[in-house]
Amino acid sequence: MGRPRVLSGVQPTGALHLGNWLGAIRNWVDLQHDNDTFFCVVDLHAVTVPHQPDRLAEDTLSTAALYLACGLDPAQSTVFVQSHVKAHSELCWLLNCVTPLNWLERMIQFKEKAVKQGDNVSVGLLDYPVLMAADILLYDADLVPVGEDQKQHLELARDIAQQRINARFGSEDQPLLQVPKPLIMREGARVMSLTDGRNKMSKSDPNDNSRITLLDPPALITKKIKRAKTDPQMGLEFSNPDRPETDNLLGLYALLSGKGRTAAAAECAEMGWGTFKPLLAEAAVSALEPIQSRYNELMEDRAELENVLKQGRDRAEGVATATVDRVRKAMGFLAT
Ligand code: AMP
Ligand code: TRP
Repeated sequence: MGRPRVLSGVQPTGALHLGNWLGAIRNWVDLQHDNDTFFCVVDLHAVTVPHQPDRLAEDTLSTAALYLACGLDPAQSTVFVQSHVKAHSELCWLLNCVTPLNWLERMIQFKEKAVKQGDNVSVGLLDYPVLMAADILLYDADLVPVGEDQKQHLELARDIAQQRINARFGSEDQPLLQVPKPLIMREGARVMSLTDGRNKMSKSDPNDNSRITLLDPPALITKKIKRAKTDPQMGLEFSNPDRPETDNLLGLYALLSGKGRTAAAAECAEMGWGTFKPLLAEAAVSALEPIQSRYNELMEDRAELENVLKQGRDRAEGVATATVDRVRKAMGFLAT
């Protein structure tokens, strides 16, 4: 048995924020030591809602640079752009033809996003989870590290692999596709908005003050934390259902300072907001400073960055093409 295969990705839409980092990318960095890891920038997913063509390439490159700045190492991980590996679109089509429509209509994220799009909902938006299943199944991934919001999509990918591909086209002793498992880290799995502790921090929130992006300069980070919603009570604590903002800010402090939940809770138990907020701001600024300076270096040497993505594409393509060929054959297509 080789090392477990891991695959994940983030869309290049809007700047990555603390939720993306603490809920997803930070865990990827740890996983690359003991696993065979694939991380892609999912640009095909970014066009499922109206997008700006003049921004897409730049945002894709910038997201890849952030992956590396956060600690993904091209010597250990395959880092690539989804649309550069054509097998993603092809497997998506094959999976589309065996996925029941009502499985997709049930997806919570689709329903939420569709409401926001009004009467401008694309077929791609509905199909988004099938493309995500293709991303995962192409690499025979064992584990998929994601935030909690993606759990339902992972279940769909499992159902497609098991019930719709393996059961129909595979043989019992030789499954065609590996059935993946989600890997959801508890801490950081749900970073909430700074302006409403009951909503998750999100790229699509129209209020910029609701999130801290990984590229926010120190003064802006400090300002956003200063304005973050709190409550009139003194002292910080975890898990009080009436104080969602407090739970979130204390959780962020525990993660960003590296102190952990127990020590952070003890340190802040009697603290007022006037003392706590500057501490949190300082922890956020110092946690992001090394990421920002590495990002700036990477973006200054585009040729090198593009080279990393080319190498990633070549490695990913080898694995992905073999899988799609296997599925084509099992489904009975005439060989090329
Ligand atoms: P998205 O920003 O929706 O493209 O999500 C990219 C990755 O970050 C996924 O694995 C999400 O589960 C994760 N993620 C997004 N927002 C948050 C959040 N507020 N807290 C924790 N994880 C998040
Ligand atoms: N849907 C995921 C998100 O919004 C992004 C994604 C696309 C993904 N393909 C993936 C995540 C494959 C993990 C594996 O976060």
